[in-house]
Amino acid sequence: MNPHDLANPRRSPAGPNSNPRSPGAPRIMRPERARLQDCVRPTRAEIDLSKLRHNLGVLRRASRSPVWGVLKADAYGHGAKPLARTLERAGIAGICVALLEEAIELRDAGIRTPILVMGGFYGGAWSKLLEHQLTPVLFDPAQIEALAEEVRFTGASPMSVHIKIDTGMARLGATSSQAHDLGATLLRHPEVKLEGLMTHFACADTSVESIGQQLNEFDVVTAKLTALGLEAPIRHAANSAAVFRSERSHLNMTRPGIALFGVEPAAGMAAQLKPVMKVRSEFSALREIREGNSVGYGASWTAKRTSRIGTLPIGYADGLPRSLSNRGHVLVRGKRAPIVGTVSMDMTMIDVTEIENVGMADEVVVLGEQTGPLGSDEITAREIADHSGTIAWEILTNISRRVPRFLREP
Ligand SMILES: Cc1ncc(COP(=O)(O)O)c(C=O)c1O
Repeated sequence: MNPHDLANPRRSPAGPNSNPRSPGAPRIMRPERARLQDCVRPTRAEIDLSKLRHNLGVLRRASRSPVWGVLKADAYGHGAKPLARTLERAGIAGICVALLEEAIELRDAGIRTPILVMGGFYGGAWSKLLEHQLTPVLFDPAQIEALAEEVRFTGASPMSVHIKIDTGMARLGATSSQAHDLGATLLRHPEVKLEGLMTHFACADTSVESIGQQLNEFDVVTAKLTALGLEAPIRHAANSAAVFRSERSHLNMTRPGIALFGVEPAAGMAAQLKPVMKVRSEFSALREIREGNSVGYGASWTAKRTSRIGTLPIGYADGLPRSLSNRGHVLVRGKRAPIVGTVSMDMTMIDVTEIENVGMADEVVVLGEQTGPLGSDEITAREIADHSGTIAWEILTNISRRVPRFLREP
């Protein structure tokens, strides 16, 4: 087998529809749905796969090079398996995850698109990379030696790897001064084949200058390796913000995450993106309280008039930040209604006094858009993040496992 096939099962001589681990076996891909027993509560996340495909289209048009989708952390909370399936069917060039176990979960679900494991921690489980045809990101000579030994031991073909270069993020990767050592180790171990060189930006969402500086450093390190006779066919750096901000950063592939899920990496950067996740619920109780009565733990909100209060079965254990207490909003009948009192573990109270004809069966949108008899509005992940002093990435990945994900395919 051509060594490149290891990293790209799609190029397997057995053909695109065969299972590389079990030649001839049919490839079963069941649609993923929340199980009935998970859905007693009306609180759920709806994942719109057509919006995912739309966002992939936006990214493909913006990117000069092939797009690899970043699906780490269960696809930023959306559900990695169904999203990977959708992207694979849309012909995405590759998928990036952080953890080896995330990659194995996708292979076990039948995903055969190339997968890059970016987190750099393999716990000595080198054989798993070979078994599941995954491409690891390495940055340390000891990793190269250990992987080479595994390849020799198993008699496998040379294994393609991507090498991470630290150009200013100071998180993971070999620095310029370590490049010679790393290159020399690669040259001594033909069992490990340099397929990619990558780096990651620290400030792509805020500074185009910093992107340029990091790319200059990336060029310097690339030149050092080239001088040793090491040419990487693929170089990559761009996260979502860099895709929209710097064409120079597109190199031979791009690695967007947040934009795939329809969130702009910075306000005003790519308005055509459409949020993939909507979180909705329905009231479990509606009550009237008199002026002067308070609501919730710590009695942090007191009614200034007779008020109608709805209790929503979603709380901070579902990923609704407690910092939205007395600050955030939800949408009911197409109109904003404020969160009142403190968000508790499983419940949140809403002041629906201004919502005409509100009823128990009304849909309440916590994240996403809603059109109803009273209007049309949207609560974005960015809005929730701003209220909570955090970023949209954290809001999405914090939607917890007890919120069932429903796939929508309109
Ligand atoms: C190495 C790497 N590349 C790409 C991404 C995608 O970033 P974003 O979600 O900002 O597009 C991430 C996410 O943090 C990452 O860690």
